[in-house]
Amino acid sequence: MPSLIVGNWKMNGLGDDVAEIAAMAGGNTGRAQLWVAPPFTLIDRAVIVSAGQIRIGGQDCHGAQAGAHTGCVSAMMLADLGAHFVIVGHSERRADCGESDADVRAKAGAAHAAGLEVILCVGETAVQRSEGQADAVVAGQLAGSLPDSAEGLIIAYEPVWAIGTGTVPTPDDVAAMHAVVRGALTARYGASGHGVRILYGGSVKPDNAAALLGAADVGGALVGGASLTAASLLAIAAAAG
Ligand code: 13P
Repeated sequence: MPSLIVGNWKMNGLGDDVAEIAAMAGGNTGRAQLWVAPPFTLIDRAVIVSAGQIRIGGQDCHGAQAGAHTGCVSAMMLADLGAHFVIVGHSERRADCGESDADVRAKAGAAHAAGLEVILCVGETAVQRSEGQADAVVAGQLAGSLPDSAEGLIIAYEPVWAIGTGTVPTPDDVAAMHAVVRGALTARYGASGHGVRILYGGSVKPDNAAALLGAADVGGALVGGASLTAASLLAIAAAAG
């Protein structure tokens, strides 16, 4: 199965930057699929310039489809703009916005109801890893946040200590955690759990992508800083083979 490389632009990008998405759409000549989640403000323009070559998504959605939630964006609104997927449960939202596993589960369910694919993020902190709790933390996040359906579901394992730090786990450590995730998925969904793609995220760069993507059961990468330019994201896609 070709790798899936997803760019998460976080709170970066102004109007001129959609030119990078246009360049990504025109420049992906390999087998890897490219998806990009720009900020909400650029989704409509990104959908247009991606010309069907790149799938565009949101970085979050609300757990309800409409209502009195000032400043929030629903999954239905994202779908209405032409978005294909949404990221939920990113550790920055869990930390910045106090999102719980139950919140993340509601968001994932709302996204599925709106016809979006879901990229559900999990990952342990450095302290949790040093205390030997990494597997239990990730398994607990999955137990609390997995939606009812494995259809249209992707998991991203993003160790918090690897995000934006330049420090990455070894491929063996990534493979070990992906095995934990796979076990949780098959325990929850049965055979359908085998069909859920698992991405690695955290300081993926052109020079380490091949090693990380080569680890067992790594179906692709969720990329932050290195997804902001076409040159860098295309280099990661090329390394993915
Ligand atoms: P970096 O690639 O900048 O470490 O970010 C990873 C991430 O959080 C993607 O969601």
